Amino acid sequence: MAALLLVGHAVAQQAAPPSPAPDTPQQAPSAAPTKDAGAKLFAESGCSQCHGPVGNGTAKAPNIHDVRKRKTSEQIYLQIKEGKGAMPAFGDALSEDEIRSIVAFLRASDGWALLPQPAK
Ligand code: HEC
Repeated sequence: MAALLLVGHAVAQQAAPPSPAPDTPQQAPSAAPTKDAGAKLFAESGCSQCHGPVGNGTAKAPNIHDVRKRKTSEQIYLQIKEGKGAMPAFGDALSEDEIRSIVAFLRASDGWALLPQPAK
């Protein structure tokens, strides 16, 4: 949608894509997606701004605290990668492994206990 608002040469000139997260802290280059990495990413990628610090929802987004009981890993993966409704897509901002990490975190029964700073 936003792309339609761009005029003329913006389309032809794609050498420098905008970077939404200018300084994403890269921890150790993780070999495989882990729920621990996912907990950090959830806290640092803006998810909690809409879904709340422990996923209990805000006026902007639904409660996803127990989304693991409702949705498969694949459904959660696609929701994050492609977005849906009022949720933006994170497919450009996050790598596949990063999204997989968040999925592992959301699917883990002890996921919320892994948050970097347990929120009230
Ligand atoms: C701008 C606010 C916003 C941000 C940021 C955001 N979400 Fe969402 N999210 C939503 C909204 C709104 C929905 C409901 C979308 C719909 O289905 O219409 C949603 C839905 C979801 C769902 C599906 C919930 C369900 O029960 O079906 C998951 C899982 C989810 N978000 C995870 C995340 C994760 C992980 C992040 C961070 C990478 C994130 N969201 C960032 C607004 C947001």
